[in-house]
Amino acid sequence: AKYTMVDKDTCIACGACGAAAPDLFDYDDEGIAEAILDNNQGVTEIDSDLEDDLIDAQEGCPTESIKVSELPFHSHANI
Ligand code: F3S
Repeated sequence: AKYTMVDKDTCIACGACGAAAPDLFDYDDEGIAEAILDNNQGVTEIDSDLEDDLIDAQEGCPTESIKVSELPFHSHANI
């Protein structure tokens, strides 16, 4: 299983991730990317059909802001 979130502090709004993985990443009002599935919490398992897109997005980000993990990111985010 894979989980993803965007480091919004390092994203420079280049827009590559939404092009590579339109089902996974969208942008806020300032063009900064965020993971669609769970409001950028990184706690929702990515559908296996979307994992190729996810890797494309991760590899295509110029600032390495697409974070990918085999485990959910900070689960305290739901509190
Ligand atoms: Fe930002 Fe990287 Fe996407 S810079 S817009 S997270 S490709």
